[in-house]
Amino acid sequence: MKKAVILISGRGSNMQALLKAKLPCAIAAVVSNRADAPGLDIAKARGIPTAVVEHGSYADRDSFDSALAKTIDAFNPDFVALAGFMRILSAGFVSHYHGRLINIHPSLLPAYGGLNTHSRALHDGVKIHGCTVHFVTTDVDHGPIIIQAAVPVLQDDTEQSLAARVLREEHHIYPQALAWLCTSQIELNAQGKVLFQHQKQSGFTLVSPGLE
Ligand code: GRF
Repeated sequence: MKKAVILISGRGSNMQALLKAKLPCAIAAVVSNRADAPGLDIAKARGIPTAVVEHGSYADRDSFDSALAKTIDAFNPDFVALAGFMRILSAGFVSHYHGRLINIHPSLLPAYGGLNTHSRALHDGVKIHGCTVHFVTTDVDHGPIIIQAAVPVLQDDTEQSLAARVLREEHHIYPQALAWLCTSQIELNAQGKVLFQHQKQSGFTLVSPGLE
């Protein structure tokens, strides 16, 4: 069975969704750059090995990233899933895990890379928002897209209500993306495109606000 390591920095709800899903791969460990990340306790409670590599203990990004890679590689994973991991990763780290490193982002990329995606979407008045799982490249939040989920933005939405609606979908698409990766149903080709072995296509159209 293939193995994955999950990287977190915070509450770890996406990590929890991955742990709860019946994935066709083993979660070998959860690694955090923060010793106080609440997600670590959730992982420990499920008997998953955890490790902490505190970014503050390293002089620069490269030395942190190499310590992080050493910690991850000790678990010998096939794949690495970033789940709310709040550090920008160096080119060396990203190329070490080329085609094996995925991230979940709370927007429909390429719109709203970076932080505060929900408040920016509300500010712009977009009517459809969502989340994306993508391969990580050096182009932060803009790697090749694996799967996206779209949700309507409602008239009375607050940042919190919109975030909650998007998060529910994050918890659906992230396990799906990792399952595809672990069963070789997707791969990143040499041209940087995501190739699918299956032909699942959705015929569903989301119109928001709805038509009368
Ligand atoms: C999620 O919204 C994820 O898309 C983003 O950071 C947040 C992490 O939340 N990258 P959680 O720690 O998984 O609950």
